[in-house]
Amino acid sequence: MRALVVYESLFGNAETIARAIARGLATQLPAEAVPAAGAPETVGRDVALLVVGGPNHAMAMPRPSTREDAVNRGAQVSSPHTGLREWLGRVQFEAGGTHVGAFDTRMDHPRFLTRLDHAARTEEKLLGAHGGASIAPAEHFLVLDTTGPLAPGEEQRAEEWGARLGARALAAVTAG
Ligand SMILES: Cc1cc2nc3c(=O)[nH]c(=O)nc-3n(C[C@H](O)[C@H](O)[C@H](O)COP(=O)(O)O)c2cc1C
Repeated sequence: MRALVVYESLFGNAETIARAIARGLATQLPAEAVPAAGAPETVGRDVALLVVGGPNHAMAMPRPSTREDAVNRGAQVSSPHTGLREWLGRVQFEAGGTHVGAFDTRMDHPRFLTRLDHAARTEEKLLGAHGGASIAPAEHFLVLDTTGPLAPGEEQRAEEWGARLGARALAAVTAG
């Protein structure tokens, strides 16, 4: 039984968060973080908890046009057509009811706009379409600017969130 974190990250901030979540999860059960571009095409029965996350782009999950925009701002991507949205569109789940969680990264300003960001909500919907059972509300992690850095304390908060999710997943599996 293990946990898997699948992420997309253009400038490295969501990757830092994903790795911190995996470190937190690993205090409870074996866990690893992998980029969506290299993630397995099947989520096996041994995955007790799948956590996915990535940045908000134009208030939503990244898509090819926004990835190209990020590349114009200095990001490096292997292909603008490969990311978390595409992975969630094609991945197969071996088991129904896999426990799932979602996160996103977003700017810390301006608040009236960032409140409209809905990348994590879309991730939750896509996970739900695979029969995923949400283990906790989506979490949002803040960056100070487009390319980062993360706001102070966010990496630590992600690690703690991961540990809490792992404990919940273990409890749910044991109870079930
Ligand atoms: C094309 C583009 C659009 C963006 N749109 C938003 C947005 O609507 N809301 C927001 O909070 N941040 C937005 N951002 C900033 C991203 O949230 C930020 O780049 C990201 O969280 C950093 O994560 P990463 O380093 O993993 O890519 C945008 C960034 C890019 C490149």
